Amino acid sequence: MKRVTIRVPATTANLGPGFDAFGCALSLYTDVTFEETEWGLEITGCDEAYTGPDNLAYVSYCAVLASMNEEVRGLKIHIDANIPICRGLGSSAALLVAGAMGANVLRGNKLSTQGLLNITNAMEGHPDNLAPAFYGGLTASMVDNGLPVCVNFPLHPEWEFLALVPDFHLSTEKARAALPNEYSRADAVYNIAHGALVLKALELGDEKLLRTAMQDRIHQNYRKKLIPDYEKIEGLVRTTGAAFCLSGAGPTLLCITQDERLEEKLAKKLDSVTTAKWQMIPLHIEFEGARVIESE
Ligand code: HSE
Repeated sequence: MKRVTIRVPATTANLGPGFDAFGCALSLYTDVTFEETEWGLEITGCDEAYTGPDNLAYVSYCAVLASMNEEVRGLKIHIDANIPICRGLGSSAALLVAGAMGANVLRGNKLSTQGLLNITNAMEGHPDNLAPAFYGGLTASMVDNGLPVCVNFPLHPEWEFLALVPDFHLSTEKARAALPNEYSRADAVYNIAHGALVLKALELGDEKLLRTAMQDRIHQNYRKKLIPDYEKIEGLVRTTGAAFCLSGAGPTLLCITQDERLEEKLAKKLDSVTTAKWQMIPLHIEFEGARVIESE
């Protein structure tokens, strides 16, 4: 029986003002192995709660086969996840991407990456994690006529990302429910302008510009109350000169810098501003997207 392992990078979505549009792939990975069998579904390597047919890798695998009019046979899935779950680093998107690519590879690569993105975007509802997970690097995406249109943007290679990952979960559903349905024209203009300058600052490697541009009025102000000590941590990060944003829907907080000593500087002070446990994970840009790492 055929077997394939797909490696998918973590992704950080929004990057401040680019709500549901910007995303960047990072150097932390989830590997998912798919092996076709005669019958049944067996999912290993994850919490029991995720071993049923609603597992996102399986849902996505089935959706891709359905789009090809191919029959779903038995399947073994093994998940080796280094992307923390429900923390705003694209763990759900990684499973959707893995399932879609796994199905496509096992059945003869009939669909393009854009085709896989269309199918997974219909499940996720926004392409900002999916696009960098598929393509790598920095992406901006729009949804036009129901279909995602994504492009890569240039990125200065020396940016370093420091993810502050807390010991609590925050579901995207809850974090989206905290947002208003309507915004003022002033807030829309603020985000469009800041978003454009975030992309330029990331391209140029301009930390001062990034720090100023990486502010937002669409989601972060509404979500910060769901994350204990958000403002104190933001204040601390800003004293270092790094740019700061919520990673995706949170609760991970993200610092972007070219200062190699940022982790050391924050380590000394983080405990004095927060009582939660925050793991610091230094990450680089992942310029390559999801890929096959083993196939037989
Ligand atoms: N753009 C999404 C959000 C990312 O902020 O809700 C999380 O899936």
